[in-house]
Amino acid sequence: MGELKKAVQFAQTGHPPDVVEIVDMETDPVGPGDVLLDVEAAAINPPHLLTLAGGYGVQPELPAVPGGEGIGMVVAVGDAVTDVKLGERVMIPLYSGGCWRQQIVVPAERVTVKFPPEGDPIQLSMIMANPPAAWQLLNTVVDLEPGDWVIQNAANSAVGNYLMQLASIYGFHTVNVVRREGLEDQIAEARGDICIVDGPDLGERVKAATNGADIKLAVDAVGGEATQHLADSLAEDGVIVSYGLLSGEPCSLSPKDIIFRNVRLQGMWTSKWLQGRGSTPESRAAVYDELRGYILDGRLSARIDATYPLAQIKEAVTHGMNQRDGKVIILPNA
Ligand SMILES: NC(=O)c1ccc[n+]([C@@H]2O[C@H](COP(=O)([O-])OP(=O)(O)OC[C@H]3O[C@@H](n4cnc5c(N)ncnc54)[C@H](OP(=O)(O)O)[C@@H]3O)[C@@H](O)[C@H]2O)c1
Repeated sequence: MGELKKAVQFAQTGHPPDVVEIVDMETDPVGPGDVLLDVEAAAINPPHLLTLAGGYGVQPELPAVPGGEGIGMVVAVGDAVTDVKLGERVMIPLYSGGCWRQQIVVPAERVTVKFPPEGDPIQLSMIMANPPAAWQLLNTVVDLEPGDWVIQNAANSAVGNYLMQLASIYGFHTVNVVRREGLEDQIAEARGDICIVDGPDLGERVKAATNGADIKLAVDAVGGEATQHLADSLAEDGVIVSYGLLSGEPCSLSPKDIIFRNVRLQGMWTSKWLQGRGSTPESRAAVYDELRGYILDGRLSARIDATYPLAQIKEAVTHGMNQRDGKVIILPNA
């Protein structure tokens, strides 16, 4: 029998804090091609909460361990493994079977992103989804040149922060739409140019704030009326890319914008990119190399509101669902 380690498990979907529980779980055997990881840090992100609630694009068979992204230290290596070494710090691969647990066994061939020992494990633990999402939003939807403007909503989210930081590296200007007052300093800290509160007159206020700049790209994490507000701010032929379901409402977009101004609405899902839609193993490795470099030199980071040990998973999940000032991180071996 393998060693018993603590893990979070959910046997049904529902209100996230009610469905998560701590269980003792036997660690899988380490096969010849596997590595065993001690999970150092794992973020609680909106998709994980949606999965617990039963509303995400891919739902696991239950019971399941939640958590889709994190960082782990290699503590055992299968006999046939040559590319991954004991003591290396690595990104936990996508769809590894849930990483809100103390230990996880993964096939070594799926370990594609490694980190130097000196990096901040909490910042590095978030590299899998949000930084490439920001990268994709800026690099794969429309052709942008230095000096171009981009508008985004939910700008104080982690993706929003990464997007502002990346845009500033690339020389793009950003209009950053938030849903509440008092976030100007946070937006400026993330090198965003303009911070503006959402509302039905967003288009007019954006035109005034940017001196009528032609905005080619709008990045929408919210949906509902917020989509139309972005459309009102966009130039003719502009593109809205929808990548989040935060309001839970269908994206609202007037046919007048679609027909007379050729405004287009499209989607973006990083999971598909990770599985090869619009990417190859080599191109993904190049993107992660770029992003890891920015995280290590401090140009890319997410705000952290709190860290929790595994034992406090219900409090952690509740915190993650509430309004907060950054990410909630689980430290399974703390
Ligand atoms: N498509 C993809 O591939 C992809 C990849 C990564 C992330 N995402 C999505 O990106 C979004 C942001 O993720 P994250 O991890 O960066 O989020 P996060 O850091 O947890 O922040 C959540 C953000 O959502 C805002 N928010 C919550 N409910 C809202 C509502 N009803 N209306 C407007 N704003 C609302 C919050 O604003 P307050 O601070 O005011 O509460 C906060 O800015 C999520 O929807 C996530 O699923 C999608």
